[in-house]
Order: sequence, then C-alpha cells, then structure tokens
Amino acid sequence: MNFDLTVRNGIVATENDTFTADLGICDGTIVAIERRLKPGMGDIDAAGRFVLPGGIDSHCHVEQLSGMGLMCADDFYSATVSAAFGGTTTIIPFAAQHRGMALPEVIADYARRAAEKAVIDYGFHLIVADPTEQTLRQDLPQAIRDGITSFKVFMTYDSLKLDDYQLLEVLDLAKREGALVMIHAENNDMIRWLAQRMIEKGHKAPKYHAVAHSPLAETEATHRAIQLSRLIDTSLMIVHVSTPEAVRVIASSQALGVPIHGETCPQYLFLTADDIDQPGLEGAKFCCSPPPRDKASQDVLWAALKHGTLRMFSSDHAPYRFDETGKLPNGDKTTFKQMANGVPGLEVRMPLLFSEGVGQARITLNEFVALTATHHARTYGLYPRKGTIAIGSDADLAIWNPDAEVVLSASMLHDNVGYTPYEGRKVRGWPEVVVSRGRIVVENGTLQVERGTGQYLARGTPKPVAAPREARWSPNTGLFQFPREAMQAPE
Ligand code: URP
Ligand code: ZN
Ligand code: ZN
Repeated sequence: MNFDLTVRNGIVATENDTFTADLGICDGTIVAIERRLKPGMGDIDAAGRFVLPGGIDSHCHVEQLSGMGLMCADDFYSATVSAAFGGTTTIIPFAAQHRGMALPEVIADYARRAAEKAVIDYGFHLIVADPTEQTLRQDLPQAIRDGITSFKVFMTYDSLKLDDYQLLEVLDLAKREGALVMIHAENNDMIRWLAQRMIEKGHKAPKYHAVAHSPLAETEATHRAIQLSRLIDTSLMIVHVSTPEAVRVIASSQALGVPIHGETCPQYLFLTADDIDQPGLEGAKFCCSPPPRDKASQDVLWAALKHGTLRMFSSDHAPYRFDETGKLPNGDKTTFKQMANGVPGLEVRMPLLFSEGVGQARITLNEFVALTATHHARTYGLYPRKGTIAIGSDADLAIWNPDAEVVLSASMLHDNVGYTPYEGRKVRGWPEVVVSRGRIVVENGTLQVERGTGQYLARGTPKPVAAPREARWSPNTGLFQFPREAMQAPE
C-alpha cells in the first residue's frame, strides 16, 4: 500500500497501551499500525520519540467577549497556531451567548470567524446566559441536534449567572436532548460580598481577587450544582476545579454512583495565590476564576487526577493582554474587580503536564494521553475519530521528544497575550512534530499550514468517562472514607 505519510520507529502510546509500531496514513486517516512499514510519500522518523494522539483542549476561550465585555486577545488563528505548537490538534472553545442574543446568530458568528482562521480542527460548546423560552424550547435543542452537544452555564458573574431554577431548566433540557452541562461553580453572592468588603477597606490589588474568590464559594456552589443535577438525575461536568473540598464533594457523589465529572487546569497545579501577590498590578497576570490556591490544594488535585476523581485536564485558556484591552482596563488605577479574569495556557498545557506529571512519575504516559486527549474525545462526542491512535481514526498526532528541555517564555509562545504566567519555568519534553488529519502542521519549529485549513467538528452524544467508585461509604458512620493514596500527595 502506498501511504501519504508514514510515522516510523516511534513508541506509540494510547490511553491503555504503549508499543513500538509504524503508522501508515492515507487521506488523513490512520490505515495501518504495524512493525516495519515501507516509507510513504512523506515519512517521519520517530526513533526515540513518543507518538501520541494529538491533544484535545476542551475548555478554552477564543475570540470571545467576556462577561465584563472584554474581547479575548487570541483570535481563531493565533489560538489554534498556539495550540498546535503545544501538541494540541483539536480545540473546543465556546460560542458565547450574552443576554439578549439569539443562539442561531451567536453560532453563525463564531462558525464564520473560526472557519476563516483555524489551522486545526475545532468544535464548539455553547455558553448559555439567557435561557429564554425561545432558547430552551427551540434554539438550544436544535443546536444540540446540529452537533453542539455540550454547553457551559455560570453560577457567578452578574451578567452571565443563572439562578437555581434556570439551572434546573437547562439540566432538564440537557437530559432530554442528550447533552452535557458544564458548570462554573462559584457562589456569586459570597464573592460579591467579600469583594465589597475588600474594596471598602481600600484593598484593591490583584491579590484580593484570590481572597474574594474564597474556596468556600467554590465548595458551596459545587455542592449545590451536584444536588441540582441529582434532582434531575443527570450528569454534570464541573469545570476548573481548584480546591480540595470541591474534590471531596465530587468524590463523595461519585462514590454514590452519581454521574458527576470533573476537570482541572494547569493554573491549579502550577500556580498558587502567592503568584498573585506581586508588586503593583503584576499579579493580574495570574488572576483567573477560580484563582490558584496553595501547595496543599495542588497536591490534592494531582492525587485526584491520578485517582480518577478528575478525568479532564484542560487549559481554560482565557487570554487577556496586560494592557487596557484586558488586565488593565483602568490603567494603573485598575482594581481586582475590574481586570479581566483568565490566564493563557493552550500551548503549555501538555508540556507542563508531561514534564511534571510523566517526568516526575506522578502519572503514567497512558494517563497523560487519557487526561489530555482520549477523555476529552469520549466526553464530548468525538471518539474514536479523535483522541486515540487506531485504524480509522483521524491521523492527529503529537510526536514528542521526551528529553527536549525548554524554558518557557512569552517570546517563544505563539499566542497573542504577551506574557505567560509560567515565564522562566523549565520543562522536559516537547512535541517536535504535530500532525492534524495527516497534514504536518508543525515541524522544525515552524507552522506548515495555511489559515482556515482546520475543520469544524459536529459532535456526537457526550459519553463522559466515569470515575472509579473506590471511595467507600460507611453506613455505620455515614462518612466517606477515601483510599489513602487518593487524598495524599504523591511521594
Ligand atoms: O478566569 C477565567 N477562568 N476566565 C474565563 C472564563 C471562565 O470562567 O472559564
Ligand atoms: Zn468558568
Ligand atoms: Zn473557562
């Protein structure tokens, strides 16, 4: 057989297996996985490299207007280029409805902008901020049938938040239509109240963002969101989990067999609230919601990724420049309440997790593949086309040099943010060649494809990956007992 492209001599890893094999690719699809294939028209020598499924980043904000009315710094070109350089070959950003907007127009607008610019494949989630009769009865069910099979709702941000009644309505709709609800779980009034106290006392610096976004606000909202979904008897994805208490709330529900799923992000494993505590407004570069917490929280999140309480690792790339368009809308007078929330992470998500996870033996290579690709594909209705290396799957590959040492800096990244919260951090392991549907997208440190060559992905029914039911509930004490390793930091 004549292949369009072969990838030979590499070590292939999927969520379950690691083996030496060559890949043969025709028409963008993997058609052969064998030892000793003949070179195709294109041939990549992957000796000494890991050949992994291209990453899927299922939580990122691209060319999106925030709840505060601020536009992201990355458009669909810079975001997808940046993602590709970091080993990600599929993104699922949001088409965001704001109040007063009709969903069909929102979707058409995002679809047009992405089609012109994306260099890798993409789907959309919706953000539903205005669940009117028209949205609930007609537009949202239609969008789900058209392949936008998940949507995010917010419990905080005055301009986006839904009340509990509205949350029940959208959960009920998702259950009926076979969609998955993603939820931003923070208690709006707790945050508002704390923020007001800070401002009254003259505490306006970025570090007070982390004080206002108390861990208790996340715990309360996470617990409430889960009870709402239990009332409807449907599943739920809790995004950007940052606290040990939220992990425990999720784990206890999972132990009862409740289909609650959880995601965390680089900022909660690699940053802490101390990073926000910097002179002047510098700390704004580290502010996102929920905020980075502390070392103890990082340890629990690592354990939750290892143990399976959290099965998704996404960037929550929310790119805002350190100027009046994003972090500093009021110049040097900007308070923590006024700056845009969010940190960039599309390009560094996989290298950071590979380096600190696989490299430090916190997770296995197969768990890395699952956390960065396969679970996203399964959860959001893209599997087995995406997220794995198998006959018939799209040839989306990240070919990793596990020994490459890279010092992260804004100047080497391809987003349009101008800084990285991980400046100066050394990582070991980097995707040298990135392939999307058989097209070499990145090689020799350069982009090889044109803008607009990414394809839109209509997605199927979400099938979130269930957590292992290993937390034991004691009917005698009424308490949950977790396996020791689940709640302890790895040695
Ligand atoms: O701070 C964040 N995460 N901003 C992006 C929007 C969101 O809530 O995910
Ligand atoms: Zn959010
Ligand atoms: Zn987000």
